[in-house]
Amino acid sequence: MALCPFSVATPQAVRAALTHADLGVRPPHEPVPTLLLATPAQPLFAALVRMRDDAGHPELKAAISSALASFSDNEIYQLATRVAQSLAPGMLTAEQLTRFSYALPIGVLAELLGVAYQERTVLVDNVLDFVRCIAPGGSEQQMASGAIAAGKLHEWLQAADGPLFIRLCQHIGDRTVAIANAIGLFFQACEGTAGLLGQTLLLMQERHIAAEEGISSVLQHTPPIYSTRRFALRATELGGEPLTIGQAVLISLQTEGESFAFGYGSHRCPGAGWAQAIALSGIHHLLTLKIEPELLAHFRWRVSQNARVPEFFTAEE
Ligand code: HEM
Repeated sequence: MALCPFSVATPQAVRAALTHADLGVRPPHEPVPTLLLATPAQPLFAALVRMRDDAGHPELKAAISSALASFSDNEIYQLATRVAQSLAPGMLTAEQLTRFSYALPIGVLAELLGVAYQERTVLVDNVLDFVRCIAPGGSEQQMASGAIAAGKLHEWLQAADGPLFIRLCQHIGDRTVAIANAIGLFFQACEGTAGLLGQTLLLMQERHIAAEEGISSVLQHTPPIYSTRRFALRATELGGEPLTIGQAVLISLQTEGESFAFGYGSHRCPGAGWAQAIALSGIHHLLTLKIEPELLAHFRWRVSQNARVPEFFTAEE
C-alpha cells in the first residue's frame, strides 16, 4: 500500500528534513526504480551522486564539486555565450526559444565533457528522455525511452575527452562512476537552468528589470526546482510526527520567508554558479537578437512534479 507523502514547507522543517539522519534520497527497499532494473539506466542511476547516501557520497560529492569549481563562472559565461551564438545565430520562433533554453546548458556541458560534434543534435532529445526516467513521476513509456537514452549517453560518454571529463575521472578515480556522473550533470543542469532562463525572461518583460535582478528574484521567489523528496530509511519522526519505513517526504524548496533554490545539506547543488552564469549568458545573447515581446506571449509549464519551466509556443491565430 502506498503511503501518503508527508509534506514539509517551513524553513525550519525543510532544514530539518534535508539534514535528517533517518531520511535518504531513495526508499530503502528500492535504491533503483523497479522499472529501470535490468536496463542500461540501472548502473548509471545507482552511481549518481544525487541518488546515493552511502559512505562514499561525501567523497564523490567533493570530487564532482571540485571538478566543477575548476572552471570559473566567467569561463562558463564566456563558453555559454559561444554555445548560445551557435545555437541561435538569428531570430527564433517560440518553439526554438524553448529548445534553446534546454539546449544551452546541455551544449555547455557537451563542450566541456567533450561529446563528439556529430552526436550534439540528438544529445538534447536523449538528455530530455533520460531526465524523464530519473525525475519523479515517469510513466512506464517514459521510463522505457529513458533507459534507451541512458544507453546512448553512456556510449557517447565512453568516448569523451574534454577537460571536465578528464577532471571528473581524475577526482573520482573510477572511470565508470565518472561516466555515470557526467551523464548525471546533464540531468541535473537541464531543467533547472532552462527554468531559470525562461522564468527570468518572463519577469524581465513584466517588470522591465535587468537580467541579474531577474535571476536573483526567480531564485528567491519561484525556484525553478521547487520541490524534492526524501524517504524514511527506518521508522523515525520528523517535527514530532511519526514516519514509517519507506514513507516519502515531499519537501518544498520555496517556503514562506526562505528559498532553497539550490537545496540544502549534503545534497546541495554544486552547480549553482554554473547555472547562473549559463542563464545570464543565454539571456544576454537573446537580448542581442532583440526578441519581440510576442515570442513570450504564450507558454505552458513543463509537465513535471518538481521543475517549473515555461515552454513557449506559437499560438494558432
Ligand atoms: C538553475 C539551475 C539549477 C537548479 C535550480 C538546481 C537545483 C538543484 C537542487 C535543488 C539540488 C538538490 C536536490 C536535492 O537535495 O534533492 C541540486 C543538486 C545537484 N545539482 Fe543542481 N541545479 C541547477 C543547475 C545545476 C547545474 C548547472 C549543475 C552542474 C553543472 C548541477 C549539478 C547538481 C548536482 C551534481 C546535484 C546533486 C548533488 C548531490 O546529490 O550531492 N545543477 N540541484
